Amino acid sequence: MNPTSLTITQPDDWHCHLREGRLMKTVTPYSTEVFSRVIAMPNLSKPITSPEHARLYKKQLLKISPSFTPLIPCYLQENTLPETILKGHENGDFFAVKYYPRGATTKSHLGVANWKACAAVFDAMSEINMPLLIHGEVTDPQVDIFDREKLFIQDILIPLIAQHPKLKIVLEHLTSAHAVNFVSHADTEIAATITAHHLVLNRTHILEHGLHPHRFCYPVAKTEYDRQALRRAATSGNPRFMLGTDSAPHTLDAKHQHTISPGIFSSPIALPLYAQVFAEEHALDKLEAFASINGPQFHKLPLNTKSITLKAIPPQDNPSYLSLSETPANTKKPKPHLSLAVFQPPIPLQWSLSSIQNKNPS
Ligand code: NCD
Ligand code: ZN
Repeated sequence: MNPTSLTITQPDDWHCHLREGRLMKTVTPYSTEVFSRVIAMPNLSKPITSPEHARLYKKQLLKISPSFTPLIPCYLQENTLPETILKGHENGDFFAVKYYPRGATTKSHLGVANWKACAAVFDAMSEINMPLLIHGEVTDPQVDIFDREKLFIQDILIPLIAQHPKLKIVLEHLTSAHAVNFVSHADTEIAATITAHHLVLNRTHILEHGLHPHRFCYPVAKTEYDRQALRRAATSGNPRFMLGTDSAPHTLDAKHQHTISPGIFSSPIALPLYAQVFAEEHALDKLEAFASINGPQFHKLPLNTKSITLKAIPPQDNPSYLSLSETPANTKKPKPHLSLAVFQPPIPLQWSLSSIQNKNPS
């Protein structure tokens, strides 16, 4: 029998998009009321490539939510200087470096086409043990989109590790059994994030009974076999696997176009959804490792001092839409440029957040 209530150390989100402007104001509290540290991705309208920009972004986020820790990676470009990275790291402005293969996803057009151009940056990072966060998909139009993660590991990641064996790496938002297997056995300092939505979606869920724009993200969900491998990895207790929601909000007008923007906005339900998956796998005793321990251990940070309680009760209020304006979203007729759809898992949520409290002194 699964417990119906679970208290764990407060978790962190090691991959999230908190965006800018009105969107940032609306979505940030959903992350920060649950997660203590949040890696806020640098793919903004002007990507974060300087320590000054990272500092400014952090300030904007803290103005919205003063009591969380935003961690900002530098958006890597082929002309990024090692000195910029070193300075940003030394001052605490850059937590990590983010490698977007050019053209792989939202706002990655200024990313890296040839990783070898970044050798000096990777060498500098290796010296100071600064993590490289990787969106692991090749962008070759000849490669089938469902094979792009696997090909990235073969054609880019393995040679990159061979060239820079001391580089600390996080392969982000895993979607395939191949990637799970690679991360589990790689003989290097590597970890991986797994999203809540990739634990509940396979590619059929995106396409059956019509196309579901709010189940569409990059890397795109793969087969049921892959989803099962991800569930085993997340719930295994293996310290290489950690929580990263990749919550990536887009307004309804971006999701209801001829070309639908990739990204799933999951932060309002992410932690209860992870809990539900762990309960289904009879592995609730492993949730704390995945959500709250493996990340800080890998990144050599202290564990959080608060704890959070989850209950096996369906949430009282789980809105399908959020509004970016002062007025609540009209669920029947949401305004496309002012509304966001919250991720609705294919199986209704059975868990909810109960409370956050200081840990009992032991
Ligand atoms: C992200 C976004 O919208 O910024 N989209 C997504 O589908 N995950 C970018 C990313 O992390 O790939
Ligand atoms: Zn992302």
